[in-house]
Amino acid sequence: MTEISASDLTLEEKASLTSGADFWTTKAVERAGIRSIMMTDGPHGLRKQAGGTDHLGLASSVPATCFPPAVGIGSSWDPELIEQVGAAIGVEAAIEDVAVVLGPGINIKRSPLCGRNFEYFSEDPIVSGLLGAASVRGVQSQGVGTSLKHFAANNQEFDRMRASSDIDPRPLREIYLRGFERVVKDAAPWTVMCSYNRLNGVWTSEDPWLLTRVLRDEWGFDGLVVSDWGAVNDRVTGIAAGLDLEMPASGGRTDAQLVAAVRAGELDEGVLDTAASRAIDLVHRAASRPAADGPLDVDAHHALAREAAGRSIVLLKNDGALLPLSADRTVAVIGAFAAEPRFQGAGSSLINPTRVDAALEALREVGGDRVAYAPGFAIAGGAVAASGRTAEELQAEAVETACAADVAVVFLGLPAAEESEGFDRDHIDLPSVQLAVLDAVLEANPHTVVVLSNGGVVALPFHERVPAIVESWLLGQAGGSAVADVLYGEVNPSGKLTETIPVRLEDNPSYGNFPGEFGHVRYGEGLLVGYRWYDAKGLEVTYPFGHGLSYTTFSYGTATASVTEAGDIAVQVDVTNTGDRDGREVVQVYLAPVRSIAQRAPRELKAFSSVALAAGETRTVGLTVRREDLAYWDIRVDRFVVEGGDYTVEVAASSRDIRSAVVVPVEGDAISLPLTMDSSVGDVVAHPVAGPIVMGALGGFLGELNATDSSAASMMPNDDAMEKMMASFPIGRLIGFPGIDVTYEQVEQLLAAANEGVAVPA
Ligand code: BGC
Repeated sequence: MTEISASDLTLEEKASLTSGADFWTTKAVERAGIRSIMMTDGPHGLRKQAGGTDHLGLASSVPATCFPPAVGIGSSWDPELIEQVGAAIGVEAAIEDVAVVLGPGINIKRSPLCGRNFEYFSEDPIVSGLLGAASVRGVQSQGVGTSLKHFAANNQEFDRMRASSDIDPRPLREIYLRGFERVVKDAAPWTVMCSYNRLNGVWTSEDPWLLTRVLRDEWGFDGLVVSDWGAVNDRVTGIAAGLDLEMPASGGRTDAQLVAAVRAGELDEGVLDTAASRAIDLVHRAASRPAADGPLDVDAHHALAREAAGRSIVLLKNDGALLPLSADRTVAVIGAFAAEPRFQGAGSSLINPTRVDAALEALREVGGDRVAYAPGFAIAGGAVAASGRTAEELQAEAVETACAADVAVVFLGLPAAEESEGFDRDHIDLPSVQLAVLDAVLEANPHTVVVLSNGGVVALPFHERVPAIVESWLLGQAGGSAVADVLYGEVNPSGKLTETIPVRLEDNPSYGNFPGEFGHVRYGEGLLVGYRWYDAKGLEVTYPFGHGLSYTTFSYGTATASVTEAGDIAVQVDVTNTGDRDGREVVQVYLAPVRSIAQRAPRELKAFSSVALAAGETRTVGLTVRREDLAYWDIRVDRFVVEGGDYTVEVAASSRDIRSAVVVPVEGDAISLPLTMDSSVGDVVAHPVAGPIVMGALGGFLGELNATDSSAASMMPNDDAMEKMMASFPIGRLIGFPGIDVTYEQVEQLLAAANEGVAVPA
């Protein structure tokens, strides 16, 4: 079959290909053999709506496996696992003839309040980027496309369809775009979804800088850009900026606008050709996937969901080795979440699961009648709420149940209504009724384990009083079984935090700048997002980024680091499982230049590896820090620059548990910054050619100042202070000062010669 191209189509046909036919499908051009394809959510399972359609997760969809959302699976820090889950989602999409799954979402968790944090991986761009790339690779390995979203700087839900995220160039490049860049370059998603918001005042759906210059020209993206559902402001401006496909349907209204704009000479037809060609390419890509036969192996996918959920759980605390539970102990399970699990977040990612495991049932499968249950509190809309029992009755029963057992396991969490796409939280606290039940249970039985179900971080005011805490996030449909696996030790927990748990919301870097007002949110914390901030400020946190315990322990040897021929940093460290259980450790590498001309966080994560180690086993773990990840965005030259000098390489079990550090010298990128009359004396002095000459002249100048005891010199305690003050003085302004024995022309000549790299005679 010969492939149709845009030039075979009429203007109207081309325009028709650039917007949806309905909620989930593109338009066909039957005459030309271009079929319609379906794009649907995503990201942690398939949400294919068969009847009613919407982007809010209201109408139900075909049953599909609900894998752990990003907040959960991200805690595995394991690209291989995420790729495997991605492949399973790809299989389910292929069976349902879905061409593109709308995900992954890799926006940075700037504030714990963002209502959609459960759909995102991390507060760190390397984690988000590497895990996002793995997800894309997995889905696309099945011949199904992905849509990397939400591009870009969509870090809150409040006013998400209008607000402008106002971000300085360095944090924009180094924090908010870095993960997207990584996924585009490493995994080539078929499509990228622009976000709803504006970025520095410009709608992302019509920003040529974002959609074309950065995404295509700099990063080499060659797929299709689709709008978030309803993100189009002005269609003609959008298509010219690089927004190829508008979703969902516009009822033909915006297609007509495109046709009219071309006819009126306001839009170059070539722009429409390009967008239509990309739409055709996407259809061809989708068509090249061999037909996938069902039925879905529901059990196998449920088993994978259970494994993934087990790997997502983070053991925050385990004093006195309270966990794992031994099956012969009596256990009081308290908390309605044990029987009425929360396993995913609300909104467009809402999956209709093939089944749902509750932790209570799974615990009873192991512990039998040694497992007692008291709901403790009601969850709005749940069975306990419907029973009409009072809070006092429920609490009293919980205390009685806890008293009678060896161990109490208290399931606390955020009610579904508190976190969702479309709005943010305004606090990070667990409901007070739950905290009261916990306090009462703790008093009755100090052997208490807390299991948390939440999509966004919650404050843990009880963390010092409770001996064991399990952060089980939202774990997907098999989460209940996975929690039982971890509590009884069938699975050794290995998840680590991809975001900091702060002591108080007020400590968070975005506090005071979130969620903004009057259509603008200023990212005032700049580069210091997440742990970068807490470390820079030396703030206490409840649990740091990268933290997570195991039922075994790991020791680290002395790390080594060297620069490879490609300029990357190769790090090696021996890690030993020093306990008597097999386990997994997430080895983390943080870097910081010893000295820098630019603002830097005390440490930044640059590489990590999830390593399985049998009891007693030692393995040499190799990690690579890519040279490009060392770079900061230099606003003087508008590009990433690797600064030369010594870098401290820290090998760590968490951002606050550094096990070994080594210093490695790195050669910097050459940047050429021509000297001008506005260059500071410091810049000129640092110049290899001009420096020595200027130093000579300045030396005399400083001597003269001191000798005459001028007021300028007498203000300074010593020569050193004088030199520091002079360092920021523009060279051009010095000419004519007493003691500066050079003319304007001579300085001009000197700078010109220095800029040409010519040695100037003294
Ligand atoms: C969400 C997207 C989603 C789309 C389609 C939008 O509201 O922001 O993430 O893919 O709807 O459901």
